[in-house]
This record gives sequence, structure tokens and C-alpha cells, in this order.
Amino acid sequence: MGAGSAWHLLLLCAAVVVLGQTLDTDVVEELDESFKDNRKNSIWLVDFYAPWCAHCRRLEPVWNEVGLEMKRLRSPVKVGKMDATSYTSIASEFGVRGYPTIKLLKNDLAYNYRGPRTRDDIIEFAHRVSGALIRPLPSQQMFEHVKKRHRVLFLYVGGESPLKEKYIEVASELIVYTYFFSASEEVIPKYVTLNEMPAVLVFKDETYFVYDEYEDGDLKSWVNRERFQNYLTVDGFTLYELTDTGKLIVIAVIDGKNGTIEHTRLKEVIQEIAKDYRDRFRRRDFQFGHIDGSDYVNNLLMDELSIPTVVAINTSNHQYFLPTRHIESTEDVMQFISDILDGTIEARGGDGILQRLKRICYDVRTTVVSVFRSSPFLGCFLFGLPLGVISIMCYGIYTADTDGAYTEERIEVSKRETESIDTREESNEEEKKEENSENSLVLSDAEQEPKDILEKKND
Ligand SMILES: *[C@@H]1O[C@H](CO)[C@@H](O)[C@H](O)[C@H]1NC(C)=O
Ligand SMILES: *[C@@H]1O[C@H](CO)[C@@H](O)[C@H](O)[C@H]1NC(C)=O
Repeated sequence: MGAGSAWHLLLLCAAVVVLGQTLDTDVVEELDESFKDNRKNSIWLVDFYAPWCAHCRRLEPVWNEVGLEMKRLRSPVKVGKMDATSYTSIASEFGVRGYPTIKLLKNDLAYNYRGPRTRDDIIEFAHRVSGALIRPLPSQQMFEHVKKRHRVLFLYVGGESPLKEKYIEVASELIVYTYFFSASEEVIPKYVTLNEMPAVLVFKDETYFVYDEYEDGDLKSWVNRERFQNYLTVDGFTLYELTDTGKLIVIAVIDGKNGTIEHTRLKEVIQEIAKDYRDRFRRRDFQFGHIDGSDYVNNLLMDELSIPTVVAINTSNHQYFLPTRHIESTEDVMQFISDILDGTIEARGGDGILQRLKRICYDVRTTVVSVFRSSPFLGCFLFGLPLGVISIMCYGIYTADTDGAYTEERIEVSKRETESIDTREESNEEEKKEENSENSLVLSDAEQEPKDILEKKND
């Protein structure tokens, strides 16, 4: 090797080292007090963390990748992280109540991220929320292109109107979940018939539906109901999102790794029902799907389902129904559903006072058990202070709303996945349960905003 090429090699190494360093330090900005003023002119994606929290440490490499990718894409969104325990006043101003909390800050709005903490999901969220609220589709080609990429697509058709204002208002809130588009009448396909203009449509399940104010109620709850495909692969996050819709959700609870016919068949049966019997049920009142594993469902229902099974959950009143007979065919499911509608199947759960008490006990129990399992020391500490546990229970009971809002609040808490008592390391298989159960000690925090999909901030 000549002296020249050795020199080049050296230069290359130096460049790699320098580049590596800038990548490490530049992509995610460590934020401090000055952030309060500095944030104003940019859009920020911020991870509010606590140094001692295990989930935060697990998020860190993902967060660096997010920062790297956003930089590579030349995204206008700046990526930062803030030690929320050092800058408590800023954190509480943004409504941070658990760690890690991921928020996108845009103008005077703060959007919470609640999906899976993976690089791609977080980046997709940042693109969606940071971009235009309403994305215009100027041509038919553009429409077709976008339609292929979105399984559920909301579209406003028409010019300026009060409906459009409402659409924008809904989008500013629900952009955390889905995209919103607009187009002129010429752009939409020929097979679409609109009796009235302007109109709001959703394209999904190989067809489309038009929003009708008189039949569908307000636009926001319509979008909230329609933003799911007819048949869903449900995970923990979507399960909690679905509990906001007021629908009757009929899901197969199976073990995805179990290849036996009982498991696969149940999923197919529900899929068939969702497709073939769409017109038989009032579509907007039903949601079909399957979920892999029973942990989330058990936690939601405080039950121990033996899988595979089908469960129907009335998200209006949190009652649920289990089939009385073995389910093998679509006819069995049809029978199950009509039994529910007839009231011939016994409803379980619900949101009465007893259920609320049960929820509190259930949460305290799962927390105590999981605390004890992962950290006997902390467990002893808790048991040494049974008074503490009891007072948490009492506090929970007193702060529980008497008109049945408690369960909803509790679900919101779960969704937030806070981990304020996470001074312990938990083992991996416990983690799933943890995410849903560990909030019990936070439960007493009655000041949770029930619906902080976004918080309007007036600074
Ligand atoms: C699969 O599910 C059946 C019940 O349907 C159960 O008996 C069997 O043990 C399961 N197999 C595995 C590998 O989990
Ligand atoms: C679900 O709950 C709502 C509210 O209590 C009730 O009106 C509706 O009939 C219930 N649906 C079913 C299928 O039980």
C-alpha cells in the first residue's frame, strides 16, 4: 500500500469518527429550561424521560434512530429529549404525568403519542402530525395513489363551507390517529355518488361511506367510529382505542403461535362474518377482529378467558358477553350476536359501583403481585404500609365518578402507560402485563385529563 492510499485511509477513518460523533450528539437534542422559549419557532418531537425509568432506557436507542432518520430525511421536525425530573415545571406544563411521554409540539398544541414505541411508528406519527392538517389531492392519479396507501381514507369534497371548518377542527384533534384529505368533485372516482355537496367520505373495506349529519351525529364521533377497518388485527393499543368508540366489538381471542385448527378457525370465522354479513348488522355499531393472546383482554375485563374464544364487548357500558356454546361456524357467531341483541345471554362486567370496586382491587392486587415479584424489597415496603394501599383504595373509590365514568378514566390511564412507580427492573414477560397494570398507584391521581389527545396550551 502506497503512502498516498494510507493517507486516504486515515482521512476516511477520521471522517467516519467525526461523522459518528456528530450523529451521536446532534440528532437528539438534550433540552433544558431554554426550551420553553426556543420551541416556539419549530416543531418538536420530545421524549420526556426519567433517568431511573427502565422503559425510558429501552426507548433511548429507538429515539436516537428516530433522530437520525429525521435528520436524514431533512424533516422540519426537531427531535429532543428532556429529563422531566430535572425540569419538572416545564414537564408539568406540557402535561407529562408518566415516563416516557412522547409528544409532538406544534404551534401551541401538544399531541400525545400512544402507539407502539418503534422507530417506524414514531416517525410515521411525526410526519402525519407535523404536516398539513388537510392534505389536498389535486388529481385523480393522486387520489388513486393515496387510496392505495391508506386502508382508511377520509376525504372532504367541495369548497369552503361550515362543514369544511368542522372537518378542519376534527382533523386538528384526530390527526394523531389518521390522515385527512380534501379534493374537488372532479377528482373523486365515477362510482362515487354524492347527493349533496360539500361532503365528507371515508374510503375503506373496498367501498366508501358518506357522512350524514342527521344519521351519524357529530363529525368527530363519526370519524372516531369510522377510522377502523371493518376487520382488525387488534393489539393492546387498538383495544384501548376501540373502547372509546361505543361499538359492540366482537373479537376472537387466540394464540397466534398455536397452529391448531381451533385457533385459526375462530379467526377465519370472524373474518367471514365481518365481510359477508356487513349489511346484516348496522355497520357502525359493530367492530370485528382478533387479538393474539389474552393478557390485554383479561386486564380490560378483569377475567381469565380460556383461549381460543370469542368475546363481545359493549364499549358503551363496558359489559361483555361470552358464548354459551362452542363456536365453530359463522352461524354460531350469528347466533351469539343475535342472542346478545335479544338479551338472552347474560351480560358480565359493566360500569356499576361493584365493578369499580372490583377494578380497584384488581389493580391493587396485580400491582402488589408484580411489585413483589420484581422487587421484594419494594414489596415489603408496600406491605409494611398496608395503610398506604388502603388509603389509595379509598381515595380511588371517593374520586371515582358516581355516574360510571370511572372505568373510562381507568382506561385512559392504561392508555397512557405511565410508569411512575417504575423504580424497579421488570423482567420481559412481565412487561406486557405491567404496562396495563402498573398504573394502579397512579390511579389516585384524579387530575388526569380524561381526554388529552391534545392539550391546548395558551402560552
Ligand atoms: C393449542 O391450543 C389447544 C387448545 O385449543 C391446546 O390444547 C394446546 O395445548 C395448544 N398448543 C400449544 C402449543 O400451545
Ligand atoms: C350497549 O350499551 C348501551 C348503553 O348501556 C345499550 O344502550 C345497548 O343496548 C348495549 N348493547 C348491547 C348489544 O347490549
